[in-house]
Amino acid sequence: MNGKLRVDLHGAPQTMLATLYGRALDADAPDSLLHDRWARDVVDRIDHDWSTTGITADTAPSVALRARHFDVWAGSFLAAHPDAVVLHLGCGLDSRYFRIGPGPGVDWYDVDYPDVAELRQRFYPSGGRYHVVASSVTDPAWLADVPAGRPTLMIGEGLTMYLTEADGAALLRRIVEQFPSGELQFDAFSRFGIKTQWVNRVVRRSGSTLYWGIDGPDDILAAVPGTRLVQWVPVFEAELFRQLPRRYRVMAAVLDRVRGVRTMAQFHRYSF
Ligand SMILES: C[S@@+](CC[C@H](N)C(=O)[O-])C[C@H]1O[C@@H](n2cnc3c(N)ncnc32)[C@H](O)[C@@H]1O
Repeated sequence: MNGKLRVDLHGAPQTMLATLYGRALDADAPDSLLHDRWARDVVDRIDHDWSTTGITADTAPSVALRARHFDVWAGSFLAAHPDAVVLHLGCGLDSRYFRIGPGPGVDWYDVDYPDVAELRQRFYPSGGRYHVVASSVTDPAWLADVPAGRPTLMIGEGLTMYLTEADGAALLRRIVEQFPSGELQFDAFSRFGIKTQWVNRVVRRSGSTLYWGIDGPDDILAAVPGTRLVQWVPVFEAELFRQLPRRYRVMAAVLDRVRGVRTMAQFHRYSF
């Protein structure tokens, strides 16, 4: 017994251990991008062979970059809407709520499958305006308890690819229909990225399957009436790459020139 919590997750829920570990490794680095001390603390409290996640110190910056990217986008929405509702879907054990520290007018919902949500409560107890919801994001029932009538931000980091196209598009439509205004912020893999998912170590090792390929904003604008594009960025062109060590910048610049690979992973932001 080492006093640590044993976790037994498989498939999509297991992948959040990999991203958590990536943020912890980034926090250890002298040139950390995210400074996620919560990730380091939670990793230290879980009994797990972290080497099996497929994430190493070399790949951790890409995890931290994605997390930081959504912290920046979410922060800009909250600065303009201090009374917002935030739907942080497929939250895993991410500490975004604590990193951002939203103001007192914000209601924040962290949503993930019941086994992940239960684990989450052990490390980040909910209360006040911070809520943890144990449900599949595609089950329409949980949305009934969320206050409607306020600007609403949906964040889906590392989520859409685990949903089927039908379920994912229905989820986005439901949010746009239920709330008066807001934003959808998420990352996506292209159809090519879905086809070549076997190269993704985290996905392979967790035994999960990726389904929904999104090639660009047109796919979303057509599938989700009422959305307007705010920004679309292939990950390799993300502003934050400039803050990574030179070898990552060079790698991103090279991959960005390879047809198909350039748009394999993308950041999407829409208003409604
Ligand atoms: C790659 S992890 C990302 C976790 C977190 N966003 C992060 O960046 O660390 C994918 C997450 O999506 C969750 N997920 C996938 N499909 C889901 C669904 N239908 N409902 C709820 N959560 C889901 C998984 O349980 C897992 O926590």
